Amino acid sequence: MPHKITLIPGDGIGYEVSHAAVRCIEACGVDIQWDSVLAGQDALEKTGELLPQNVLDSIKKNKVALKGPLTTPIGTGFRSVNVAIRQALDLFACVRPAKTYPGVKSRFKDINLVIVRENSEDLYAGIEFQEGKPETESLITQIEKDTKKNMRHDSGISIKPISKFASERIVRFAFEYALENNRKKVTCVHKANIMKFTDGLFLQIARQVAAEFSGRIIFEEAIVDNMAMQLVQKPHNYDVLVLPNLYGDIISDLCAGLIGGLGIAPGANIGREMAVFEAVHGSAPKYKGKNKANPTAMILSGALMLRYIKENKAADKLEQAVSQVIAEGKSVTYDLKPDPLDVSAVGTSQMADAIIDKLKR
Ligand code: NAI
Repeated sequence: MPHKITLIPGDGIGYEVSHAAVRCIEACGVDIQWDSVLAGQDALEKTGELLPQNVLDSIKKNKVALKGPLTTPIGTGFRSVNVAIRQALDLFACVRPAKTYPGVKSRFKDINLVIVRENSEDLYAGIEFQEGKPETESLITQIEKDTKKNMRHDSGISIKPISKFASERIVRFAFEYALENNRKKVTCVHKANIMKFTDGLFLQIARQVAAEFSGRIIFEEAIVDNMAMQLVQKPHNYDVLVLPNLYGDIISDLCAGLIGGLGIAPGANIGREMAVFEAVHGSAPKYKGKNKANPTAMILSGALMLRYIKENKAADKLEQAVSQVIAEGKSVTYDLKPDPLDVSAVGTSQMADAIIDKLKR
């Protein structure tokens, strides 16, 4: 029986990198039947909707999707199609491994971190009040009354909800992930010293969950600004990081920088019943159609997907092939060359060809 998997090709560089990933995944010999559906700008042009219902239906049916990056349209009222998919399917855990591969230019060697980012709430909940609107004015008046504090009446407001429920499930996910993947330590990253009732709650719940895993997984706490500095100085001190949504987003890119850039940083959005695999990077519109973008992040997201569907051997093979091509440093895209202007850099599809070549040996 083939695995049925939803494929959202994406836009910008999305089509190129997801096409490269599909070719590499297929070269692993896994029997996959792709259900290709459009979301984002392409879907808007064809159907008038950025996130057509058939996209969500396909993922709900197949339970697994591989997704290329999608451009966030400006001025449509839609915050982000990517965030909308995660919220509509309750893909509450964003898992982003950050690992150095030999041959990648990076200040550090042997980094092997995993970021577990809460995906459903925090400042990404999309609860915002625009400056100058009557509802914003009435909210400001109410806040002033309840808190006895003054606010500027020409403010815009974004709400940061952090619940016990969502904090508990993400921290538990991080600890369970750590146990299943032979990790030693979980660090809870927060700003509880300032945001006592949101980050403070996240930390309080993290401490409670951590107590259940005591003796099996080490628990640490870190304030997010200090964490940013520690990561660029001593990244080897960390293992699994669990963070609320916004800090998770920022620290993910920082960690991508530690391991050689966004071109090689994969990710997964995981819920109770389904998962969507996608690179950390976006649609990099300036490289669209230029066969220039690095397909590695998308291919490694495919390897994460193969593990999720229990095709571990194929996942190992794929990761090894990627690793070999990067280590050889010949058939790699511009961003993996010591000099980005190196004319020997290959294109997206040629790098995929080199990986497929290794898979066939
Ligand atoms: P971006 O990640 O698309 O690009 C930032 C820069 O990183 C690029 O200019 C490029 O220099 C480099 N880069 C990214 N991917 C690369 C690759 N595969 N190979 C080589 N270099 C690469 O971030 P940006 O420019 O902030 O966002 C562009 C669009 O993508 C926006 O509309 C944004 O909302 C969207 N986006 C979508 C995401 C998703 O689909 N999950 C995630 C992040 C952004």
